[in-house]
Amino acid sequence: MEPMLSTADLPPPPVHVAIIMDGNGRWAKARGLPRTAGHKRGAEAVRRTVEAAREMGVSYLTLYAFSSENWKRPAGEVTDLMGLLRLYLRNEVNNLHKNGIRLKVIGDRNRLGADIVRLIEDSEAKTAGNTALTLLLALSYGGRQEIVEAARSLARDVAEGRISPDSIDEESINARLTTAGVPDPDLIIRTSGEQRISNFLLWQGAYAELVFQDTLWPDFGRNELEAAIRDFHGRDRRFGTAR
Ligand code: FPP
Repeated sequence: MEPMLSTADLPPPPVHVAIIMDGNGRWAKARGLPRTAGHKRGAEAVRRTVEAAREMGVSYLTLYAFSSENWKRPAGEVTDLMGLLRLYLRNEVNNLHKNGIRLKVIGDRNRLGADIVRLIEDSEAKTAGNTALTLLLALSYGGRQEIVEAARSLARDVAEGRISPDSIDEESINARLTTAGVPDPDLIIRTSGEQRISNFLLWQGAYAELVFQDTLWPDFGRNELEAAIRDFHGRDRRFGTAR
């Protein structure tokens, strides 16, 4: 019999994995289904991936669920996506909590509906003490917008005399991002064959390894996550230093 390869045989996983979940629309189109059907299956892939990441010992998993630019999609699709997010937050939080997962939402909450913000706050509070895995959902998230907000906050502190311009450094910018306190992503995966960063974790991903897979997001799961992590382990990370 073939020896079973268990996750115990793999080197330690990257601490922070971030994923640009792409290809829901194409998955649906290939089956003659409406785009919503792709997003719905995408939500199932989210469940599988969170579970696999936790079992593999990943400490932080960030999923790009809705970008600042996604607000420009047709109103019906935005409503459908918000509906799915609402459902996910309502139905999944107990399960996350049971599995020791902490939920944190990054992005611009001002543009989200009041009921979703409530759900987010409740879910974050409920799971705040969990330590097995931190799941960061990027909602209404844009890397540039996040850097603009950090710059505004620093400018206010300078204008009001709390800090001097010369004291501004990488740490003070980090502290004003919605990811404050979260280590930078080691690995960023994008599915569906597209090879772009699309405004995702622009500052934080400065030294992330990028893995692009052809799999459409609704088909993503444990095998794809393991394959990306194997790719990651094959890379020589130098952070700008000499070999
Ligand atoms: C990209 O597919 C995916 C999105 C814009 C949203 C991701 C949303 C989900 C996976 C579902 C809900 C999420 C959670 C956390 C429950 P696309 O529509 O851009 O696909 P296409 O490029 O093939 O058109």
